[in-house]
Amino acid sequence: MSGTTKSLKDLYIHEIKDIHSANKQAAETCGMFARKLPEGSPLVQKFQQSEKMIKDNNAELEKLAERHDEKASGMHCKGMEGLVTEGKKHVLHSDYTDEALREATAIAQFQRMTHYALAGYGTANAYAKQLGDHQGSKALQGLLDEGYEGDRAFTDMAVNCINEQAAEANEEE
Ligand SMILES: [Fe+2]
Repeated sequence: MSGTTKSLKDLYIHEIKDIHSANKQAAETCGMFARKLPEGSPLVQKFQQSEKMIKDNNAELEKLAERHDEKASGMHCKGMEGLVTEGKKHVLHSDYTDEALREATAIAQFQRMTHYALAGYGTANAYAKQLGDHQGSKALQGLLDEGYEGDRAFTDMAVNCINEQAAEANEEE
């Protein structure tokens, strides 16, 4: 954050901008993962859905910021940049004997990114409540709930499907 932070409101707006940037980077990465993973895999569809969902989330954040005469865009989140760099390394630029292994790590990498956003939504929601921004709090609570739900769906997919396939890759050697 450049300059001096003077109020909780400043922290609130900073948090919104940070999540907006993090989401923008995460959505792009979802698209890259979807294009890299085996065609027809249910995980590809999941990443495509997530890309769209995250973009929709950002539209919500833009509306929220506008109600405070602020812009959600314009910041660059270096935390997410780091997670994206790691994610791309493991999912796009690593070799696997079986694509199920790539899929397993894609879920792991994406969940790290999701958790960054969940932390941001939770914090921003707490600020919104403290500041009496009821409309903002309602929006952020919705995004938080949706984010948790999406995260659980990825866990279910890993535990019920992908990890089992990845375990078989080892047996084939
Ligand atoms: Fe950040």
